[in-house]
Amino acid sequence: MIRNNQARPTPEGQLEHRYDGIAKVTGKAKYAAEFTEPFPKKDLVYAYIVHSTIPSGSIASIDQKEAERAFGVIAILTPFNVPKLTSAKPHNLSILQDTEVHYNGQPIAVVLASSLPFARQAARMLTVKYNQQPAKLNFMGRLDEARPPKQGGREQPGTQRGDLAASMAKATVTVEETYSTPLQNHNPMEPHATIAWWEGEELNVYDGTQYISGVKMSLARILNLPLENVHVQCPYTGGGFGSKGTAWSHVTLAAMAAKVVQKPVKLVLERNQMFGPVGTRPTTVNKIRIGADASGKIVGIQHDAIMSTSVMDDFAEHSAGTSRMLYNSEANATTEKMVEMNLGMGTYMRAPGEATGTAVLEIAMDELAHKLKMDPVQLRLVNYAETDPSRNRPFSSKHLRECYTQAAENFGWSKRNAEPGQKTEGNKQIGYGMATATYPANRSVAAAIVRILPNGRVFAGSGTQDIGTGMYTIMAQTAAAALGLAPTLVDVKLGDSALPKAPVSGGSQSTASVLPAVDAAAKQAKLKLFQLAMQDAHSPLYNAKDTDLDTKDGHIFLKSNPATGESFTALLTRNGAAPIEAEGSAEPGPDKNSMTTQSFGAVFAEVAVDKDTHMVQVRRVVGTYDIGTLMNNKTGLNQLMGGIVWGVGFALHEEAVIDPVYGRTVNGNFADYHVPVNADIGDIDVSVLNIPDTKFNPLGSRGIGEIGITGAAAAVANAIYNATGKRVRNYPMTPDKIM
Ligand code: MOS
Repeated sequence: MIRNNQARPTPEGQLEHRYDGIAKVTGKAKYAAEFTEPFPKKDLVYAYIVHSTIPSGSIASIDQKEAERAFGVIAILTPFNVPKLTSAKPHNLSILQDTEVHYNGQPIAVVLASSLPFARQAARMLTVKYNQQPAKLNFMGRLDEARPPKQGGREQPGTQRGDLAASMAKATVTVEETYSTPLQNHNPMEPHATIAWWEGEELNVYDGTQYISGVKMSLARILNLPLENVHVQCPYTGGGFGSKGTAWSHVTLAAMAAKVVQKPVKLVLERNQMFGPVGTRPTTVNKIRIGADASGKIVGIQHDAIMSTSVMDDFAEHSAGTSRMLYNSEANATTEKMVEMNLGMGTYMRAPGEATGTAVLEIAMDELAHKLKMDPVQLRLVNYAETDPSRNRPFSSKHLRECYTQAAENFGWSKRNAEPGQKTEGNKQIGYGMATATYPANRSVAAAIVRILPNGRVFAGSGTQDIGTGMYTIMAQTAAAALGLAPTLVDVKLGDSALPKAPVSGGSQSTASVLPAVDAAAKQAKLKLFQLAMQDAHSPLYNAKDTDLDTKDGHIFLKSNPATGESFTALLTRNGAAPIEAEGSAEPGPDKNSMTTQSFGAVFAEVAVDKDTHMVQVRRVVGTYDIGTLMNNKTGLNQLMGGIVWGVGFALHEEAVIDPVYGRTVNGNFADYHVPVNADIGDIDVSVLNIPDTKFNPLGSRGIGEIGITGAAAAVANAIYNATGKRVRNYPMTPDKIM
């Protein structure tokens, strides 16, 4: 077990610190909006997006005469003058191709000027007239309008297993309650930003993204360009959490604007422009019914979810998904329905589905445990799913039982009072709560390139992204391990669409997808190195067999006699000083559909609730996770901690409040949209079992970007109940709901 709050020497082969850590803390790491090359900086044009101020209807007219005369203005793009695209307009984007308004805050014009203040100032001088239509707002008041996902879309209406009515008849204890989660917005530290410039018919962009290849494909499709004419770069991404997994409207608008003005265009979203146009986590209402027999064995689970979606297109927050597979139950039925809203598109947000699914199901489980007078951990063990109940197939590797045991031990769960409201410290009520964490392990095809250089260093490249997760670090480690040298001797390049293709840095899949490709490329390069030595009459390894050779510390040598060999540098220098280069790719194994690949964890929280103010302080969170092999102690454990911090925010703080009449996000800024700050977070103790899942991939690593948020919100919610005896069923659990 690897634990963050214990002394842990850096294991051999791991970098102690982030590969990109010094570049980031010294400001040398350039994010998308910071580039001043290779285009001439003096030519840079600044774009500012103008947003609709009504939630529904159409634009009747835009008077731009005054704005055009404003100082520094170069051009103003509106639906009335923008070049029309020949491609089909994507439903989820607002790129000025029509005058329709679907939500308050939708991009409706772009002002281009010689500086950002000039552009912003001129934007205020536009006079926009609308034909307003009644807006679909007030989600909670319109639940009866919920409909199944649109036919032909990618969302599924529901699932059924067993005979729910017959099974439920056997229940001696039943919980039937409704739980809700709010609309949330991602808000990575780096706002969305794009710099676009054209060289003839070739389009270049710097873009803050989780998916350079996705941006490339989107731009090529929308602008009707050959794929090879689009070049996307993003060496650093200042967080994304799903909101940068998609090329939103501003990316295309920047490219269109750059074409119009024939100059490089920089478009950076302001913080308040990120509440709507770049995706939200839909709000969900979840009716959950769980029946159990007297021994605590679950006989049936029913979960009917209703979520918000945009009038523009369907996107589902699969909050019912967790209820299908987390526990055994002989019968199971779930539905997912949607209420259309005049809001921006929903999208993936850290652990989409599981973050909300565990937040609601795990309160219901706590309620069931209480009714059964059973320990909540024991209830979960009684209903432990050895195989995936939703797909009736084995897990590639599941060690959740050990997670419960070890996290409970680390937390001191045995000291919990089962009866709520029993423990006080002065003016505070103290409570303990726990929940299960889970997130799927995804993997996609990926490619990489590795070069062994004559100077003794190694280059590893892949068209992946580092969204703050540590991809640079673990790519260096992986190439180093395959070649037998120190990871500090590896130079990594990523975030450039000219590199071999890799998947979106989403779905916690990059580690499991990209590292096997880097490993394959490095092993190919190593084989080429062997061959060079074997064919070189001046090498001490001349005429050896490749199976007799190995590498370590930048040397190639005979396994049987390590003294016979030479350095990579000596070998390459003697052979024309050309680098050895190899590409490699990797993809999920042929048996991927015969097993479920899933990560699990157990998370425990202690809260102190003020008896007068009902403010909740999360004093401690302890989580133990089964995530396969941990590739790097620092970057890995930090991601789990970050996920837990977000889980605390989910439980207590976060909610995008929509004005019921105007449809604008009322708290669309960092002052009013509350997230935890340092003072809100107590001690976080995370540990991982570090049991390799080699059925999933050769490195045995399942990815950890998202699982940390799952379960954490419910653990806090259940601790609030244990502290106060007050059961809150809608997030966030602000003081007004607790009193
Ligand atoms: Mo993640 S929500 O798949 O970026």
